[in-house]
Amino acid sequence: MFAHIPPYAGDPILSLNEAFQKDPRAGKVNLSIGIYFDENGKIPALESVRKAERLVVEAAGARPYLPMEGAANFRSAVQNLLFGADHPTLKAGRIATIQGVGSSGGLKVAADFIKAHFPASKVYLSNPTWDNHRAVFEGSGVETTTYPYYQDGQLDFAGMMDALSKAPARSVVLLHACCHNPTGVDLSAAQWTELVKLLNERELLPFLDLAYQGYGDGLNEDLFAVRELLAAGGPFLLANSFSKNMSVYGERCGALSVVCPTADEAERVLGQLKFMIRRNYSNPPTFGGQVVATVLNTPELNSLWHAEVDAMRTRIQAMRKALHEVLSAKVPGRNFDYFLTQRGMFSYTGLSPDQVDALKNDHAVYLVRSGRMCVAGLNSKNVEVVANAMAAVLA
Ligand code: LMR
Repeated sequence: MFAHIPPYAGDPILSLNEAFQKDPRAGKVNLSIGIYFDENGKIPALESVRKAERLVVEAAGARPYLPMEGAANFRSAVQNLLFGADHPTLKAGRIATIQGVGSSGGLKVAADFIKAHFPASKVYLSNPTWDNHRAVFEGSGVETTTYPYYQDGQLDFAGMMDALSKAPARSVVLLHACCHNPTGVDLSAAQWTELVKLLNERELLPFLDLAYQGYGDGLNEDLFAVRELLAAGGPFLLANSFSKNMSVYGERCGALSVVCPTADEAERVLGQLKFMIRRNYSNPPTFGGQVVATVLNTPELNSLWHAEVDAMRTRIQAMRKALHEVLSAKVPGRNFDYFLTQRGMFSYTGLSPDQVDALKNDHAVYLVRSGRMCVAGLNSKNVEVVANAMAAVLA
């Protein structure tokens, strides 16, 4: 019956993370998956989240199904966080938000929505982009293509603008709102403004992926692109995640918001999103979303969370400096400034797949084969080990 089923080739990120878990070598270093590890190499349980968990457990009663679109307190908390509670677009009822199963779930619901309601539109992805973006859209039957993004160690803004200026109207343009995955190279504020103008003029449909809010410049600062698109009047889509900034990866907490021209359209869009959800996973799980909502809706937990995100971001920045310093000393003549200029969890090292393989096989240091390093896996105990290993494969 199943003899014809081919083996799964594996996922470039998740399968590598599984391989790391099975690696018996002591001193192995995981710089592959986009997860924040603390100074002790552990995934932190944030104090704000632990306090919220206790409140949710104490208040827990019966657990009926959530509505297809998710819990109302979660959805409004997400809207207030992303758009500002007093923003006229939000007050006008022009934003449809659903609780997703992580932001990947939001991307998938959006992909189904695009396939059904924008059947002629292609999704434009940055080259490179997160390994799973193409699979998510193509899995829903949506055609994808790419726009130039990164060339010779830097943003190819001219190439990006040129390609997007030729994209047909109603094309969907997927953009990383901050902390570009995998390159760590972001647009400047002025470039965002220029890009948003072009997207509007060309009648393109922007789709922001906001998976690393707080890891660039701060929870509020990292919403610059969202604010620019709001100021331009929309429409746009936004998938956001709490996996990284609340360290709740396995709880699958995220959302999808669609900013619409009118409240009437927002209501109809929400209805269609519910339809997509119903025939996919029916409705989201309860617990994680309630924890996130409690953090966001409880002022003292919210401020504690902001401080915890600031601390995670600052630690990554310190690790960037440390790796830059050690490597610059060990490999004179090679420029490692990209560790200082790239932002968020990732750095694009420029290492070849063979060099990445050598790092893994000879030194038990795991990076994604594209050369992407999760800088958040570095700590003061392993930074020297990683620098030595990189110096060896670069020799
Ligand atoms: C990553 O890029 O490593 C993370 O977003 C985890 C994932 O699901 O790929």
